[in-house]
Amino acid sequence: MCGIVGYIGKKEAFPILLKGLKRLEYRGYDSAGIAVLNGNLHVYKKAGKVSELENYTTGKDVAATIGIGHTRWATHGVPNDTNAHPHLSNSGNLALIHNGIIENYDAIKKELIKRGYVFHSDTDTEVLVNLVEEVRKQDNSSLEDAVRTALNEVVGAYAIVVIDRNDPDHLIAARKGSPLVIGVGEEEFFIASDASPIIEYTKNVVYLDDQEYACISRDGSFYIKTLGNVQKSPAIQKLEMSLEMIEKGGFEHFMLKEIYEQPKVIAEALRGRMSASQGWIKLGGLSEYSNRIENAERILITACGTSWHSALIGEYLIEDLARVPVEVEYASEFRYRNPIINEKDVVIAISQSGETADTLAAIELAKERQALIYGICNVIGSSIARMSHAGSYTHAGPEIGVASTKAFTAQITILTLIALQIAKEKGTISTSKLREILYELENMPAKIEQTLKLDSQILEIAKEYKDAANFLYLGRGYNFPVALEGALKLKEISYIHAEGYPAAEMKHGPIALIDEAMPVVFLATNASAYEKIISNIQEVKARKGKVIAVVNEGDTHIRSLADHVIEVPATEEVLSPLVTIVPLQLLSYHIAILRGCNVDQPRNLAKSVTVE
Ligand code: AGP
Repeated sequence: MCGIVGYIGKKEAFPILLKGLKRLEYRGYDSAGIAVLNGNLHVYKKAGKVSELENYTTGKDVAATIGIGHTRWATHGVPNDTNAHPHLSNSGNLALIHNGIIENYDAIKKELIKRGYVFHSDTDTEVLVNLVEEVRKQDNSSLEDAVRTALNEVVGAYAIVVIDRNDPDHLIAARKGSPLVIGVGEEEFFIASDASPIIEYTKNVVYLDDQEYACISRDGSFYIKTLGNVQKSPAIQKLEMSLEMIEKGGFEHFMLKEIYEQPKVIAEALRGRMSASQGWIKLGGLSEYSNRIENAERILITACGTSWHSALIGEYLIEDLARVPVEVEYASEFRYRNPIINEKDVVIAISQSGETADTLAAIELAKERQALIYGICNVIGSSIARMSHAGSYTHAGPEIGVASTKAFTAQITILTLIALQIAKEKGTISTSKLREILYELENMPAKIEQTLKLDSQILEIAKEYKDAANFLYLGRGYNFPVALEGALKLKEISYIHAEGYPAAEMKHGPIALIDEAMPVVFLATNASAYEKIISNIQEVKARKGKVIAVVNEGDTHIRSLADHVIEVPATEEVLSPLVTIVPLQLLSYHIAILRGCNVDQPRNLAKSVTVE
């Protein structure tokens, strides 16, 4: 949800900013802009992708050693050149970039208009930069004091960077609710929404906390203060990320690379956390609070989107294996329905980015009511990870494709370990069953590797159905959330309408949609519901629907009924989502490519949704 980047030092700022924006483009791609300061303050902004900005700035005056840049996911105002960031104050002295939403912008804007301010854009950001200007004028204060006072007046979420035309030696950056990282180099600083624009210049970073701001100087010094004007000592951390992790590595798209990374990702999520031969599981975060978690009367899992689908799988796993009641909540609904929650509850919050505003808000509420928060996040140092009492990182590496793939399977892997660890401690699983599942988990990277070999067969199926207007995805038990996720993947990147449903629910409504033009994807690997799924397939065939069935290897029965079968390696039913999701990811990828869609940056979406 918008990417921001800043630089001050001895190097040319413009190429650093431009490259940084390309790395952050997954966060929003409605418009892009850069401001550089070299005696004059030059602001270049363009609707569309960063490449549009790059073309537009060719040959322009960009030589400077200080600057800021922004890539936008539109909230206030349509995506056009004027609404693009950076925004200038009325005097033209201040330039500001912003990720987030200023909720009380309208009241502030009206007040500023009364005082003679003129607004050119529809954005809340232009209101903020003029508020800083007005405060500075009224109080006759420094830029730092004016930024702090202004931020104390606004309600909402932000990560901002401000520069002053008359002060080429300083940058001010602040955050509340939106992420901000400062890269600390040799007499140079990099500021960004995440570490990807920084990684090739320095591994030393400081994550700004909520309600903090940083004053950064060209002379190599900086300090951090709270919005209450209290100085903090900055904790410099070492980045674990490498450059190759954020590059495409020979794949045409990040999404495809990330689908193919899944065997490695699952192995990484398991590393050091279990041993099948010795029969142990140990998730560090879980052990720390084992008493409270094992004795929880219920567990709540909250998340959004794909992470919500893995939450549903978590519900099946924890109830099935550990016999603890679980409720799954959309984070966006949880906060607004006055949920019953108290100190006996354990809340698991799942988020790839660790920055999703709805999930953060749900955690805040659960924390206020004394629940224990267990975070499952991918991004190290992210807000959700830091707000949780305990948790486990998925260690999937940076996920850049907007459609989540490897984060999903990594989350399910962690949830499986959580369910098994609680089950073992509570004695709800036999030693032999535990070993069987652990051995299967260890085999999972190889099974996914085998599933990925189906890619060319799936491409052929994609060619046949790429022009379909609708798709239905059906599954039962552990494969019901997989059906939801398969449908979401197709919708997100190919713009084909798709619905996921529990297979048995089809007869209560969606069956009316079935005709010869309707492809229906069945997830038919579960032994426990096999006969029932076959009946559902028959019902679709009787109405001339087209059946694409994901089955266990060697399933001749369904082969005789379906139009297409995708044979995946059989596994324990509780682990089946890890395998069955892979062909669905590939199917949506190929359909989207055949339809000419931008799979890594689908329209209207952004990777991390930092607005409510
Ligand atoms: C997944 O493909 C989506 N782009 C989206 O639903 C995503 O899963 C959701 O926004 C939650 O994000 P998070 O995991 O970073 O919290």
